[in-house]
Amino acid sequence: MNTLIKNGLIVNANSRNSADIFVENSIISEIGKNIPDAEKRADEIVDATGLLVLPGAIDVHTHFELPFGNAISADDFFTGTRAAACGGVTTIMDFVTPEKGESLMDALVARRKLADSKVCIDYGLHVSLPGSGYDGITNRIEEMLDVVAAGITSFKVFMTYAFRATDDEFKAMLSKAKELDALIMVHAEDHKKLEELRAKFIAEGKTDAWHHYLSRPENVETKGVETAIKLAKETNASLYIVHLASAGGLKAVERAKKEGVHVFAETCPQYLHFTNDVYKQSDGQNYVCSPPIKSKESREALWEGIKSGLISTVATDHCPFTLEEKLWGKDDFTKIPNGVMGVENLYPYMLSEANKGNISFERVVELCCANPAKIFKLAPKKGQIAVGADADIVLYDPCKDFQVSVKNIHSNTDYTIWENVKLNGYPVTVYSRGKIIYKNGEFSGTAGTGKYLSNHCKSPSGHFDLLGESC
Ligand code: URP
Ligand code: ZN
Ligand code: ZN
Repeated sequence: MNTLIKNGLIVNANSRNSADIFVENSIISEIGKNIPDAEKRADEIVDATGLLVLPGAIDVHTHFELPFGNAISADDFFTGTRAAACGGVTTIMDFVTPEKGESLMDALVARRKLADSKVCIDYGLHVSLPGSGYDGITNRIEEMLDVVAAGITSFKVFMTYAFRATDDEFKAMLSKAKELDALIMVHAEDHKKLEELRAKFIAEGKTDAWHHYLSRPENVETKGVETAIKLAKETNASLYIVHLASAGGLKAVERAKKEGVHVFAETCPQYLHFTNDVYKQSDGQNYVCSPPIKSKESREALWEGIKSGLISTVATDHCPFTLEEKLWGKDDFTKIPNGVMGVENLYPYMLSEANKGNISFERVVELCCANPAKIFKLAPKKGQIAVGADADIVLYDPCKDFQVSVKNIHSNTDYTIWENVKLNGYPVTVYSRGKIIYKNGEFSGTAGTGKYLSNHCKSPSGHFDLLGESC
């Protein structure tokens, strides 16, 4: 199947130009003003006059079907990737979370088996590394080699939750990752400080959602980020800070970058749009995520970081729970399953900000496509409109306005924190490897057609993929 996309404005991270795109099966094969015989060779001709032609976004931080306490996040790998597709996200990266006593490799294989038959866009995985306090296993570091050999290039470390690593464990993980040319991602919050605050508030009977925020305020994240950066500096390893939400954390990233530390910061749309005032609302529990949404000052600092280049990526941390599950903690914030939704809103939200003139479209493509692709080794096939790249393409109408509602999104959720948010411009057509998976409000993808993206598959030496299929 050959598709010609004509007359659009192609936007990449560092350029925009009016040109046509020729897609042969799943790959962009030609880009130019007068592609020879293009109309004759095309099975389908699409007129993109007035539209932006963008690379599909890459959301490198989702949690589909994640067990959290007594709940499991509401989107599975089908509904989650369906929602992603309908918002112009054509690749997601989710997490492998070993159960107590389970090896990293067993957990990886199990996660692949769960996801493969459900995904309708391409996906990759990071592996979460538990500290020994989680299940008593002390040799997780040794398992990292097998994981890297299986094609995974990124690990996640937690500084809090039951999964947390001690500073010594975290440091050893950073050293090993450096040796293996892998990347450590970190959930950076100071565990000791937040536990003290939580215990104090509970003892005082201060248990509403506002105290979720007050138990994990700006300085809890800042201290976590500072510690993580110190350990990265000591080991000379690269570090990727997930869901950065605070001005203080961002300052620490700025100082580290000036000192030459190899650190990347990710933030999420919920931290760019809302403020901690949401936790004072009667439905404050619906916004509970960790780290919590911070102050107006932090939100402004994050926008400055987006504009200055200090922030490298925007991803969602998509982890929705139902209204009923959120209500479990109405009178005790420690019982609220942590996480909010956004995979379908990420790209439209950021593009809408560009449409309003707050940032450039090129910068949105850099944050949501090109940088994630480079950092997580998905480039050059992903993250750009280029000859040889996968035909993951979004046709975006800057004049089509959209008002988000739980009624018009494609997640398996019964509410959205994005309800009633008005967006200027919206994706009209989304292609995954050359096939239309979304058009004008309708999903048209198929479960199981997304491909697992393994770094192993880049090897020309005939390596085999994890579940036995050749790359
Ligand atoms: O509240 C959140 N973010 N839930 C998902 C797990 C995590 O910490 O990323
Ligand atoms: Zn986290
Ligand atoms: Zn997360």
